[in-house]
Amino acid sequence: MKYHTYLQRKLGKQIPEGVKLPGGYHVIGHVILLDVDSCLAEFMSDIAELSLAYEPRAESVLIREGPTSGKYRKPAYRFVAGNPDTETEHVENGVRFRLDPAKVTFSGGNRAERIEMGRTAQQGEKVVDMFACVGQFGLHMAKTGGAEVICIEVNPEAFHYLEGNICLNGLENEVQGVLGDCREEMPEGWADRIVMGYLENTFDYLPHAFRSLHSRGGVIHMHIAAPIRESALIGDHISSTASSFGFVTGYRTRAIKNYAPGIVHLVYDINVVPL
Ligand SMILES: C[S@@+](CC[C@H](N)C(=O)[O-])C[C@H]1O[C@@H](n2cnc3c(N)ncnc32)[C@H](O)[C@@H]1O
Repeated sequence: MKYHTYLQRKLGKQIPEGVKLPGGYHVIGHVILLDVDSCLAEFMSDIAELSLAYEPRAESVLIREGPTSGKYRKPAYRFVAGNPDTETEHVENGVRFRLDPAKVTFSGGNRAERIEMGRTAQQGEKVVDMFACVGQFGLHMAKTGGAEVICIEVNPEAFHYLEGNICLNGLENEVQGVLGDCREEMPEGWADRIVMGYLENTFDYLPHAFRSLHSRGGVIHMHIAAPIRESALIGDHISSTASSFGFVTGYRTRAIKNYAPGIVHLVYDINVVPL
């Protein structure tokens, strides 16, 4: 039975008219992450307990209390049911991640993109993951793709998990973790491929990505949250930034998920060659 139907059958009669029960959830390791309409405040623990009974992989339930915020992109979840220890191990396409989803962001909606980056990276390629967090992109690119990766992360808590995950996956020779601000820590003229997995003020970081690319060019995967109608304007900005670094670009755009009303999480796969 589908999750929504299951909740509907268990709680439907008690729910105020017009209020929607959750239609799904994400599971990170043993932890369920749930978004629940705030009108259902009195049903939160019932929904959490029912979710535990429904999902065999789960032992803990976190319910979103507010938006992800700040430079570190801190999630805002409240522990509601089950095992209060939400530090967990999550395995994705053979890559192991240890993390606490109550403390660091690990987006369920980006799963396909993480796996795709592992398939996109090439053996021996030099990659910079500018916003590495616990290694979401960089570890897939090293483990599945065989790339040599520099993972830069500014939040000490996320960096702690990143370092552990490099070891957990036996990638000590392939991945170098760097604690700091990518604008200061990126190597110059080194990378074949760069991942910009950060949705806030992405343009501010674009010049640093071009500076870090090898002079023969390469590929930049730039994530951005924007209204879909602005996608061509964003392309123009990418081209003009590239030309100031002596590069020309071609790109394709992919939509990852809806980010906010009218705003889409987009990825620009930017091919860069010298002018
Ligand atoms: C939301 S997470 C995204 C993780 C991953 N790239 C993804 O897209 O799934 C963004 C991470 O970038 C880090 N971050 C923010 N500003 C940074 C900077 N200037 N240099 C390095 N890391 C930064 C945050 O601490 C956070 O861990």
